[in-house]
Amino acid sequence: MMVKPEYGGAGMDTVSYVLAMEEISKVDASTAVVMSVNNSLVCYGLQEFGTEEQKQKYLMPLAQGKKDGQLYIGAFMLSEPEAGSDATHQRTIAEDKGDHYLLNGTKNWITNGGTASVYLVMAQTDASKGSRGINTLIVEKNWPGVTVAKKENKLGIRSSDTHTVMFTDVKVPKENKIGNEGFGFKFAMKTLEGGRIGIASQALGIASGAFERARDYSKVRKAFGTEIMNHQVIAFKLADMALKIETSRLLCLKAAWLKDTHQDYAVASAMAKLHASETAMWTTVEAVQVHGGYGYVREYHVERLMRDAKITQIYEGTSEIQRIVISRSILK
Ligand code: CAA
Repeated sequence: MMVKPEYGGAGMDTVSYVLAMEEISKVDASTAVVMSVNNSLVCYGLQEFGTEEQKQKYLMPLAQGKKDGQLYIGAFMLSEPEAGSDATHQRTIAEDKGDHYLLNGTKNWITNGGTASVYLVMAQTDASKGSRGINTLIVEKNWPGVTVAKKENKLGIRSSDTHTVMFTDVKVPKENKIGNEGFGFKFAMKTLEGGRIGIASQALGIASGAFERARDYSKVRKAFGTEIMNHQVIAFKLADMALKIETSRLLCLKAAWLKDTHQDYAVASAMAKLHASETAMWTTVEAVQVHGGYGYVREYHVERLMRDAKITQIYEGTSEIQRIVISRSILK
């Protein structure tokens, strides 16, 4: 959506992206995360920090979603078995071999891990430099030494594929490094700032989807001689949902507007993600409650939204990570 037309994209802004993410997530949060990772992590990262050659080779087909008539999307690989929230703790190694890097390691929880054709992989080149010794490399899935391993059996977002991906002596040409030597961690952090707007909007959509279903159900379901919307206990729940959803929407739009107007949006995106994901979790639990027993079965879809909501408090930085980003900013 946000890739410039000269690179095959739709040239839209982040505000439009938030609106689209909300609408899609109301119906299917799995489709939304596929879209979010491809748009706001992979395409954004390449457009903002890639070389012209990298854009021509990788961004063009990613923006179009196709290459040679085949699906072509991307994955973002920061997380590892021992590096989730503590993302500087990279164990994947990109050894400098002169004209190429030799990549070895394992990445976990990779959204689009099985379906993506191209990966942005964060790896440690110089451990003595800590986070300043990390590089981001563009790796193609069909290169020798790349193994798509275990597919996760998840609680929610079940139609998006999440995999472990392993690298064994993968030769990555130097021209596939993004930015200067050691830029990899900053690349990840800058990219995640925008990614968090996407996930916040996904959470917003999950919450508004659950709210709309609860509201509509309350108008037709009768108990104690009247539609349940006429019971204040239900009406007040719906009022609280509407308020939390509206504040989430405003935070998402504010972060998007800051990004579109080239202002600092790191804290705004953390606030949007924190508030929207907590709203999604609370709203979906309450939407199941409004439906009673019907909410607990698959037919009414609110149980699916409740399962999908949980991940928005975990990926692209847990709620605790968002609190770290916000508190560091207000206390510095
Ligand atoms: N922009 C630019 N640089 C940044 C930055 C930012 N937003 N945040 C940190 N940095 C820089 C720092 O300035 C520092 O650089 P210098 O050494 O040059 O000063 C360097 O990065 C290290 O920063 P910190 O010392 O602050 O690092 P830290 O270890 O204390 O923690 C953190 C930072 C915010 C906790 C970070 O580790 C973090 O965000 N963790 C969560 C990781 C995450 O979100 N993972 C999501 C995986 S992707 C995913 O989920 C996709 C999916 O599939 C859906």
